[in-house]
Amino acid sequence: MKKLLISASILSADFSNLADQIHQAENAGVDWIHIDVMDGHFVPNITMGPFIVETCRKITQLPLDVHLMIENPDLFTEAFAKAGADRISIHLEENPNILRSLQKIHDLGCNNGLVINPGTQVTSAEPLFPFIDLLLVMSVNPGYSGQEFIPEVESKIIHARNCIDGEKLPVLIQVDGGVTSKNLPSLFIAGIDVAVAATAIFKHPDGIAQAVKDLRLSIK
Ligand code: DX5
Ligand code: ZN
Repeated sequence: MKKLLISASILSADFSNLADQIHQAENAGVDWIHIDVMDGHFVPNITMGPFIVETCRKITQLPLDVHLMIENPDLFTEAFAKAGADRISIHLEENPNILRSLQKIHDLGCNNGLVINPGTQVTSAEPLFPFIDLLLVMSVNPGYSGQEFIPEVESKIIHARNCIDGEKLPVLIQVDGGVTSKNLPSLFIAGIDVAVAATAIFKHPDGIAQAVKDLRLSIK
């Protein structure tokens, strides 16, 4: 069986103990650390900038998976790459020069990711598949952790999987938003490679180690 990668979103972490929270996630066996960057314009929330990425880079060697939910991402990708991002994902929406933006991320030495919101069709992203390392299918409206999973996105994941496999492209499919050990099994069958989770990991009543165990066991 293929290995599912888990990207732990620190949006729900206890920031008064960030290093400890990241170390706990790392010891629990998560694969990547997901950093949600929001600017208060593209989404109605403001979160973290390159400084937090730089901080995470000092805390862990795990790949830093940076999800930009900001206007004009081109103005900031270099700062995130310099801060230590390994992967930078940007939204298809509101970007008339998306291919240039994706290529710039490669030029900066990072893997790129293309993100589509729940209201965006996979077909709109398809022409870009040959140019990307990862397709992120949002399963909530971006902006906050702790939201309810939108089950209709599963058919988009199946569509994307068929298209990527049909063209034999090395593109990872990631899902982000409301992921739990309840919905993970069908997302995995639908074809995801990477699951992002914030609440399910950092707000689990029995702690981070048990949370990651629950996610892994759900797909066994
Ligand atoms: C939402 C962010 C997600 C969020 C996920 O805009 O992109 O990464 O942190 O949080 P949960 O897992 O709680 O839905
Ligand atoms: Zn995210």
